[in-house]
Amino acid sequence: MLTGTFCLLRKTQILSRSRPRIRYSSLAGSMDTIKSTIAENFGGVSHKLADAKHQFSLEETPDQSGKVAVVTGGSQGIGYGASFTLLQKNLAKLFVLSMSGETMDGAINDVKEKLGEETAKKITWLPCDLANWKAVAETSQKIRDQTDRLDILILNAGRGIMTYQLTEDTGVDLHMALNHMGHVVLTSHLLPVLKSTASNGNKVRISVQASNAHQGAPSDTKFASLDELNRDLGPNAQYGRSKLAGILYARYLARHLTPQNPGILVNATHPGFVETKMSVEDIHEPYPIAGAAMSTLMSPLKKDHWMGAVSTVYASTVVEESGLYICPPAIPEQGSDMARDEELGEQLMKLTREIVMEKTYSDSKEKGCPFEFY
Ligand SMILES: NC(=O)c1ccc[n+]([C@@H]2O[C@H](COP(=O)([O-])OP(=O)(O)OC[C@H]3O[C@@H](n4cnc5c(N)ncnc54)[C@H](OP(=O)(O)O)[C@@H]3O)[C@@H](O)[C@H]2O)c1
Repeated sequence: MLTGTFCLLRKTQILSRSRPRIRYSSLAGSMDTIKSTIAENFGGVSHKLADAKHQFSLEETPDQSGKVAVVTGGSQGIGYGASFTLLQKNLAKLFVLSMSGETMDGAINDVKEKLGEETAKKITWLPCDLANWKAVAETSQKIRDQTDRLDILILNAGRGIMTYQLTEDTGVDLHMALNHMGHVVLTSHLLPVLKSTASNGNKVRISVQASNAHQGAPSDTKFASLDELNRDLGPNAQYGRSKLAGILYARYLARHLTPQNPGILVNATHPGFVETKMSVEDIHEPYPIAGAAMSTLMSPLKKDHWMGAVSTVYASTVVEESGLYICPPAIPEQGSDMARDEELGEQLMKLTREIVMEKTYSDSKEKGCPFEFY
């Protein structure tokens, strides 16, 4: 996205400034960094530039027979690329959470056409606004009513680089309410089925769709209060902060959930710079004119939604570790200093618990919800 691209430019400028007196070993290191940066972000043949040990392609996705998956935002873009791939690899059942029935119909028709009627019948669409936490809790109950196992949870739906808004019902920054908190509510309500699936000897993989735009989160981010969350930071930082929350959340679960449940792996991903509705249409909401740079001029450089799904599919079907931040095709990266800050992650989840509990009290806590995040 715009922020990600700016970050990328910054990275290569720093490399070119350090040109004098480069030794061959550091030159090789710089070349590796450039190659990874291109592989992680751009389309075309870029994935081939990644180191051999970090290669992965959708064709290598293992067979998914018998497995059940939930994909938020699985109706189009990157989420659809991941959903389609899992179905192609014989997934037993797929729940998709999204908003638009028309978009979902298009996805189901595409699956019917390319993978057949029987495969399309494996899809259950659950219309749900992830920013509406009450609806998320009800939807997760519907999932639990329809399956006794859940092997893959892909937390992918999101609001992109768009203007600052507050949710109507709870008055919380919409980027955080949707991209982060809605997914926390969903995951928390699905914990019983995730844990029982793992305790029956299955590997369970949760992947959180983050972004290298997390580097655009303001440096004074503390996740200290709702007032702090509800500041208007501008479109890039508003989005970047919610993506930072995604990485911190994945690492929080890796610290707290995986040790008690070694069969549950939780990782964050960056999909790259991908041609989707978010980067083609939604970007014009905050930047009616400048957005054209991303929607049109940058188009030839972007990954398509298949390439954009590669790191997500890797994190959902292949990875054997927990707490990674995986960039395309399958490159583990550290992320920013803030993305590695465990205290910040603890504070984020403390605030998340306080806000969700306060805003949903009569529908949850008052009715006995234990507010367990892991
Ligand atoms: N594209 C990129 O370059 C890029 C880069 C880095 C990270 N990402 C991340 O990748 C993820 C997928 O984005 P994408 O590029 O594939 O975008 P996309 O094609 O616009 O897809 C977004 C998906 O999220 C769903 N969604 C949006 N708001 C929702 C809500 N309130 N409740 C439930 N579902 C909702 C959409 O469903 P409806 O259409 O039905 O609303 C759609 O299925 C996002 O988390 C994004 O931040 C994208």
